[in-house]
Amino acid sequence: HQVSGGQLQRAMTAMALCSNPELIVFDEPTTALDVTTQIDVLAAIKHAIEETHTAALYITHDLAVVAQISDDIMVLRYGKQVEYGSVQQIIEAPREDYTRALVNVRQAYREEAADQSTALLKVENISAEYSNGFKVLHDVTLHVPKGQTLAVVGESGSGKSTLARVITGLLPPSSGRIVFDGKPLMPGLKSRPNDDLRRIQLIYQMADTAMNPRQTVRDIIGRPLTFYYGLRGAEKTARVKELLDQIEMGKGFVDRYPAELSGGQKQRVAIARALAAKPELILCDEPTSALDPLVAEGILKLLLRLQEEEQLSYVFITHDIAIVRAIADSVAVMHRGKLVRFGSKSTALSPPFDDYTDLLLKSVPEMEIGWLERVLATRRMESAGN
Ligand SMILES: Nc1ncnc2c1ncn2[C@@H]1O[C@H](COP(=O)(O)OP(=O)(O)O)[C@@H](O)[C@H]1O
Ligand SMILES: [Mg+2]
Repeated sequence: HQVSGGQLQRAMTAMALCSNPELIVFDEPTTALDVTTQIDVLAAIKHAIEETHTAALYITHDLAVVAQISDDIMVLRYGKQVEYGSVQQIIEAPREDYTRALVNVRQAYREEAADQSTALLKVENISAEYSNGFKVLHDVTLHVPKGQTLAVVGESGSGKSTLARVITGLLPPSSGRIVFDGKPLMPGLKSRPNDDLRRIQLIYQMADTAMNPRQTVRDIIGRPLTFYYGLRGAEKTARVKELLDQIEMGKGFVDRYPAELSGGQKQRVAIARALAAKPELILCDEPTSALDPLVAEGILKLLLRLQEEEQLSYVFITHDIAIVRAIADSVAVMHRGKLVRFGSKSTALSPPFDDYTDLLLKSVPEMEIGWLERVLATRRMESAGN
């Protein structure tokens, strides 16, 4: 408990090498880490392999990561080998459609809105702490314009989910206020009128944990329809089917249980349940982080389409800068509970940077052979210069 995830993975690598193995299997060792930590672990693994001449099998869903680590790449799908070749060939000249889709995964894109001045949601000087007295948010101020997306980025533990909890009323702030559509919201969930609850919905990273495994898709999506709109029976089922169409799943899914759905389908059902309330703002807390890249891309495209159709505003929480670049209008960077940067996507992601945003942006692996060496060399030069 006293070491970070990154330190732990480095220690595991050292341990694996202790017995002078001829082969080490790395099974997604950096998937759960922040990009800023991932880069140190990747460097340590690469260094260890080169020093000891041990062979390694590195398993990951992130092609940009293997492009840094490996000599050859095998692409697997449904248990079958799709393509096998040198890093160079796979990344720069993929032969198969599936590999090409993986290399060029980003297709969803939203042009940033020019006018970001009128706010639907305002977060004003919010500080928050948990019941154990641990202060998590420090004087956070930001806003989300109507029909637009604010991306909230920052490493694990920086307070992103806590901010979402404060906005929804799950965690009343210790100071500051939330203003929605020009009116202050009551700090706690229980004191908010139903209509205020309806207008702001939340989608979680793990669709599973937010669903009752004993309820069918009809029950899950139907619940807000009954709660907010009093729909029952055939009327409710008809509306559930409409919503299933809207999320591109089809009416056939109404009687399925969560266990009978894929990860991407579960997340679509979670989106349909949020839509059922006819909200104006949806807080998306890392909704694609647990999904494979192509499935995640499908969810992003769906969210963008729904935004256009329904005039939705999103607070999109993520630790993935590529997603921020793809879908945001504005960006908030959180670091240790403080807002270190806030502005339109084009200004927030352009220099001059604050130190933390600079580190964050430089740590995101790029789908380019030699990226890791380049970043490490720059770091060595910078530390020599200091
Ligand atoms: N229920 C809780 N009780 C006490 N501390 C919490 C609770 N939930 C989160 N924290 C702490 O608050 C900080 C921010 O957590 P969180 O908002 O979940 O960060 P993020 O979503 O950016 O990973 C972390 O240090 C975390 O340990
Ligand atoms: Mg979180």
